[in-house]
Amino acid sequence: MKVLIAYGTRYGSTEEIAARIGQILHDAGLTTDVVNLKTTKMKPDVAAYDGWIVGSGIQMGHWTKVAKSFLSKNKWKFTDSTKLAIFLSCGTAKTPEGRDKAKKDYILPLLTSFGLQNARYDAFGGFYDFTDSSRVGSFFKKIMKKALEEDGVDVSAGKIDQRDWGQIESFAKDYGNFLKELQK
Ligand SMILES: Cc1cc2nc3c(=O)[nH]c(=O)nc-3n(C[C@H](O)[C@H](O)[C@H](O)COP(=O)(O)O)c2cc1C
Repeated sequence: MKVLIAYGTRYGSTEEIAARIGQILHDAGLTTDVVNLKTTKMKPDVAAYDGWIVGSGIQMGHWTKVAKSFLSKNKWKFTDSTKLAIFLSCGTAKTPEGRDKAKKDYILPLLTSFGLQNARYDAFGGFYDFTDSSRVGSFFKKIMKKALEEDGVDVSAGKIDQRDWGQIESFAKDYGNFLKELQK
């Protein structure tokens, strides 16, 4: 079975998650294509896959444009939307309560508006890079650093990873098992 993992990222967190999910599904015996929707030359053909995973980062409450428009443009092509899985990487999802809020605020409204309510979805924590080599611009760095500090986070390390890799691995394994069950 062939699975598409398509993502939009601004600073690389969602890309690392997509790569990890791809590796887990590959290890489970599935064929995977992990595609950065911004840099890819050819937008993937949804019909060529048995399952689809779409991921995005969140900035100022917004999905990446590429991931949102990929879902919007292909909404009729996800013939069985139970085979569609959505994930986010965002600061809100750093705790279990935050995950529920992120799902409610950022995922559910979008899925509902696209008629994709049968998709599975999860929200993962974020990653912040405040070092000199960071892709985050100095203005946004300042804002986010302040917000994290107000939240009691120690930002002195420069890189703060609030992603729960166990949660991410479970999400990937559950999805892989689901697809494999369908094939039986
Ligand atoms: C400028 C900026 C704005 C952000 N705004 C939000 C936000 O509105 N809500 C949220 O939950 N997380 C927010 N975050 C956290 C990001 O979603 C988190 O860093 C995520 O891992 C980014 O994913 P990406 O690197 O794949 O784009 C923000 C981060 C930055 C740097």
